[in-house]
Amino acid sequence: MSVYRPCSVDGITAAMPSAPTNRSILESRLKERLREKGLNSVKAYIEIVKKDKEEMKAFLDSITTNLTRFFRNQAHFDALEKFVIPQIKSIKKVPGTIRIWSAGCSTGEEPYTIAMLMKEILPPPWTYEIIASDISLKCLMTAKEGFYSENRIVGIPDSYLVKYFDKVKDGYKVKPELQAKIKFDYHNLKNDSGIRNLDVVFCRNVIIYFDEAAQTAVINRFWDSMASKSFLFIGHSESLFGMDTKFEFLKTEWATLYQKNI
Ligand SMILES: C[S@@+](CC[C@H](N)C(=O)[O-])C[C@H]1O[C@@H](n2cnc3c(N)ncnc32)[C@H](O)[C@@H]1O
Repeated sequence: MSVYRPCSVDGITAAMPSAPTNRSILESRLKERLREKGLNSVKAYIEIVKKDKEEMKAFLDSITTNLTRFFRNQAHFDALEKFVIPQIKSIKKVPGTIRIWSAGCSTGEEPYTIAMLMKEILPPPWTYEIIASDISLKCLMTAKEGFYSENRIVGIPDSYLVKYFDKVKDGYKVKPELQAKIKFDYHNLKNDSGIRNLDVVFCRNVIIYFDEAAQTAVINRFWDSMASKSFLFIGHSESLFGMDTKFEFLKTEWATLYQKNI
């Protein structure tokens, strides 16, 4: 199993594998970029990255870790269905829209999983909307397209596959009505998103790669984006323990999560 640690370039924190693999991965990706740009020094490349936002994005694309899958950590989705959504319904009292953010959505498996589940469990007049964001443009393009090859649809129950996907050549394509529930956006978690009033935030397997200060800043920005009594899911190997945040730890029958309990 590999361990991860933060990689920071010009103040941008992104996810990448840690020692002993990080150095060799970083070196090989850097070498690739230098070759593509016809450069022979890392210093010259850093100067380009500092000035050229597009190159910065391409570089981040090449070093971030985008591992994901449908229904990753089923316990979180059980907690969403059996604990979080019933709680939100009783807090809101009047049926309305439940707002969910998949922050660090990678290639879209997480927001599509949430969307399928919400379609299944949320009866009208309740509605939902999902914002899905990532720092990797390449990932976002895949997510927006919603095409997944046969080997990537593992984990989706057969009945969901029939309902929410069209079978196409070499794989499956998410049906437009499910896609319409998700707004995909480029966003670096280092900055304020401007999003407010969220009922649920999923930020799983993202902050594990950040240093302590960046983790605290990201988590406290989520606080500002979230509605009163809202819920936060982080990855099962991540924790807010010891962090200077106001989130309350919740242990449900299905999974642990956090609440903005004010
Ligand atoms: C390992 S994937 C996790 C995907 C999904 N949340 C899951 O748990 O299956 C981590 C994602 O975080 C994104 N990421 C890394 N640093 C980021 C940052 N500063 N802002 C936004 N997204 C970032 C990466 O591009 C990658 O797609």
